[in-house]
Amino acid sequence: MRLLLHTGLLAAIGIGLTGSPVVADITTTINPASNRGSWEGWGVSLAWWGKIFGTRSDLADIFFTKNLVSYSGSTLPGLGLNIVRYNAGASSSNSINGTTMASNSILSSRKIDGYWIDWTSSSPSSSSWSWGVDTNQRNMMALAKARGVDRFELFSNSPMWWMCSNHNPAGASDGGENIQSWNIANHAVYLATIAKYAHDNWGITFTSVEPFNEPSSSWWKSTNNQEGSHFSIATQTQVISALRTELNNRGLSSTAVSASDENTYDLAVSTWNSFNSTIRGKIGRINVHGYQQTSGRRDLLYSAASAAGLKIWNSEYGDSDATGTQLAQSLLLDFSTLHPTAWTYWQAVDGSGWGLITGDVEAGSLSSATKKYFVLAQFTRHIREGMRILDSGNSAVAAAYDATNRKLVIVAANFNSGQYINFDLSKFSQPSTNGAAVARWSTHLTSSEQYASYSDTVMSGTKFWSYFDQNTVQTFEVNNVSL
Ligand SMILES: *[C@@H]1O[C@H](CO)[C@@H](O)[C@H](O)[C@H]1NC(C)=O
Ligand SMILES: *[C@@H]1O[C@H](CO)[C@@H](O)[C@H](O)[C@H]1NC(C)=O
Repeated sequence: MRLLLHTGLLAAIGIGLTGSPVVADITTTINPASNRGSWEGWGVSLAWWGKIFGTRSDLADIFFTKNLVSYSGSTLPGLGLNIVRYNAGASSSNSINGTTMASNSILSSRKIDGYWIDWTSSSPSSSSWSWGVDTNQRNMMALAKARGVDRFELFSNSPMWWMCSNHNPAGASDGGENIQSWNIANHAVYLATIAKYAHDNWGITFTSVEPFNEPSSSWWKSTNNQEGSHFSIATQTQVISALRTELNNRGLSSTAVSASDENTYDLAVSTWNSFNSTIRGKIGRINVHGYQQTSGRRDLLYSAASAAGLKIWNSEYGDSDATGTQLAQSLLLDFSTLHPTAWTYWQAVDGSGWGLITGDVEAGSLSSATKKYFVLAQFTRHIREGMRILDSGNSAVAAAYDATNRKLVIVAANFNSGQYINFDLSKFSQPSTNGAAVARWSTHLTSSEQYASYSDTVMSGTKFWSYFDQNTVQTFEVNNVSL
């Protein structure tokens, strides 16, 4: 395999320089007339890792800059994420006339302190609100902002514990609805009040507020080790309406209500289809989680969103595959079929293959970056905010165009046997120039190559090509390209 790769590459370049046609295993034609949206960016949710590691400026450099960052004896290429999702907590340790939060099972790293600690007053300046809690998660948000993060989403996993029937923000005993009917509007008041306070006091203007987390799923149970809450469709509609009103009442009409962060593409479609036109009109963006991996009708969700004139964010993706294979496959399908305008990972630091950097959040310990980190870097360091997403002609290829710098970016993966992928730019009015260098980066998911850059690829007429070993992700940047 190695020898074949080596001679193959040399042969390809040799033929390319003479301008002769090349035989490639796959040819994909990028369509410059297509427009799958202006890319809003890449992000991560804070919550648990933000609470535990929120003072670590090295982690902020790693996740929120594109610098080369020294970390634990190695150098990591920063991911350059520009979106942060901040979790409005549901927990507090105070007693309200003898009543306290009920959960015994939520892990301390997953118990996020909420700001509205008793029901006496909705006034944020009253003693019912405790604005000093959750300092670490807020600190990581501030570190992120200082490094250029420019989009923020406020999200909730559960209403404050005292708004819940069993006073347990992990969920109801049977996984059913847990919010008390008289607190439905208060959940909206809670989130809108945080958004207003953040605007006035933290220098953070939330782009959007997401009041739910996988609300149609029935696994949010009182014995869980994390905050969670099931909401019926009828209750979701009440929260969405109330949240829109409460944001408007606080001068935050440009902060969108995003919904519903369902676990799968298919659930997102069914939830959307069950909302009537009034409710749909109050939703500013469709958020969906990517836990259906390579399954699910991404196409139907995209059709529904397009028909409503709404954008989609894959607002939470995570998996336990530390090689990055599942991530690359799912993400490339998102580009080809879901067409989100942003994509955010769940926990940047986590164990059991879930983290980009391995760590035990509960124990507060950190280890090295996973291969998944470098796979994600192939995307996040190159497809940047403001680029126009193009139809790449192949579901294993993502393409984006940077109009300011007249640069075409292509990220492609190969999970089959080793093969050439031939990129045809002939439909561009200026497909770079014959012989021009194409910058290339490669990550090998099952060998040691992490994020290596190469200058071995050139335009041959209106094409270029590269050999893809099995289980590789490669990125290309082509300059001097006009649509
Ligand atoms: C506690 O109980 C007293 C007496 O019933 C009441 O006046 C007060 O408002 C209660 N406090 C809270 C936080 O509910
Ligand atoms: C949509 O549902 C809401 C809540 O049930 C209701 O108030 C509203 O009138 C409905 N709108 C339409 C167009 O049916």
